[in-house]
Amino acid sequence: MSQSFTPRPLVIAPSILASDFSKLGEEVRAVDQAGADWIHLDVMDGHFVPNISYGPDVIKAMRPHTRKIFDAHLMISPCDPYLEAFAKAGCDHITVHAEAGPHLHRSLQAIRALGKKAGVSINPATPAGAIEHVLDLIDLVLVMTVNPGFGGQAFIRSVLGKVSDIRAMTAGRPIDIEVDGGVAPDVSGELAAAGANAFVAGSAVFKGGTMEAYKANIAAIRNAAALARGEAI
Ligand code: DX5
Ligand code: ZN
Repeated sequence: MSQSFTPRPLVIAPSILASDFSKLGEEVRAVDQAGADWIHLDVMDGHFVPNISYGPDVIKAMRPHTRKIFDAHLMISPCDPYLEAFAKAGCDHITVHAEAGPHLHRSLQAIRALGKKAGVSINPATPAGAIEHVLDLIDLVLVMTVNPGFGGQAFIRSVLGKVSDIRAMTAGRPIDIEVDGGVAPDVSGELAAAGANAFVAGSAVFKGGTMEAYKANIAAIRNAAALARGEAI
């Protein structure tokens, strides 16, 4: 491999959006046991995206069910008034959208001031350059591979090139490159080759409905990515 830097660890982050909401605690425990590295939490406001999911109180209720990292993806606008509530609810990573407000630096500084890791997310139509001026303020970039708002959508292939650009832009920095939307074993290899190291998956993890199924689903996404990274399975 021609990489001149240590690759970031491979991470699988099941999205709770695709779980059975009638038993959230149980679902969180099941994906934890099934091998999830992070728990991805999709927060939607019916304004920034055309769907409503859940907020800090529901996240707080899930918190005692696992010690794994809570990776919050805020699809809300404005986000600044709610950052503290998500930090207090137990989120470890708080990611905001570059398109969600006019003062991205302020939002990212506020997340770090709360002692949390800060992420910036960009929609499929947003160019990589949108994150260029905040590289010193972020711990992760969440590259959307669908338009946010719903689970179960088809992966947008044209985003692969942008993942490579972001990989080049962040080289040598301790920044995770996370991808989200339509991620399944058929694309996790290509995404890993392009430079993604953290893989969010909703439908591809929760299909089957049992801990055993989740385990096999997580392993399939992980193995395809590991293979592309030249790592042993
Ligand atoms: C979409 C969310 C995703 C979603 C992914 O707005 O950000 O995290 O849950 O779901 P799948 O993996 O089913 O595309
Ligand atoms: Zn998400």
